[in-house]
Amino acid sequence: MPETVNILAIGDIIGKAGRRALKEHLPNLIDHHNVDFVVANGENLAAGFGLTEKTAEEMFSIGIDVLTNGNHCWDQREIMPLMNEDERLIRPANFTENAPGRGWTVRETPSGHKIAVINLIGQVFMGTWDCPFRAADHALVEIPSDVSAILVDIHAEATSEKMGMGWYLDNRASFVFGTHTHVPTCDEIIRPQGCAYQTDLGMTGSYQSIIGMQVEGALKRMVQRLPQRFQAVERGASIYATLVKVDAATRHAQSIERIHVPPN
Ligand SMILES: [Fe+2]
Ligand SMILES: [Fe+2]
Repeated sequence: MPETVNILAIGDIIGKAGRRALKEHLPNLIDHHNVDFVVANGENLAAGFGLTEKTAEEMFSIGIDVLTNGNHCWDQREIMPLMNEDERLIRPANFTENAPGRGWTVRETPSGHKIAVINLIGQVFMGTWDCPFRAADHALVEIPSDVSAILVDIHAEATSEKMGMGWYLDNRASFVFGTHTHVPTCDEIIRPQGCAYQTDLGMTGSYQSIIGMQVEGALKRMVQRLPQRFQAVERGASIYATLVKVDAATRHAQSIERIHVPPN
């Protein structure tokens, strides 16, 4: 088995625009960067609101290994039974105990590395959930000790809460990345005890938008304070993703690099 494992993490994928860009470019990115494992946030796959079996399968078929989720997890209710059945789909571990599905998963790469992925949701400006820090502790106790890397998606609004999670899991996780705010941050770093960290991966969607949604409706809602429909922009997506190389023996990150594929 190789001594290192290359992880590609992709943030929120926004509807058709995001899916189309990944269908076109992800297989090449995987080849070019020798990627062993791909994790992506799937909460906006279906026109910006939740995910369906079809949109999830579409992403698995192009090389995504695990889809994490967030506050839009149940927007398409058809995903609820599948969340129980499919180990490639996870939802935040600190949802209430009534939630279907699992908060972490372990999948194996073709080269034989087992990769753990934990999904958490923040509490600041995000609604009422169980404590994400305790949920991370519990998941880390349950995850088998023979994994080569532990990845954590902290789906949260507040940069401080995400940074707190990064420090809390230094020396226990290989890569803690934020999702949800849909804008990439340029603070990628490896913490002193070997955990790679980035506050937000950024969305794969159109940046000629307001966080992936058409400007007109979103702006009217802000200016007029009247209900408006949000509609995802369907073309012109940028891909933002982050590549992390992990030492499989220590599970510590060796390098972290942001990747941007501009729209065609
Ligand atoms: Fe999102
Ligand atoms: Fe979100």
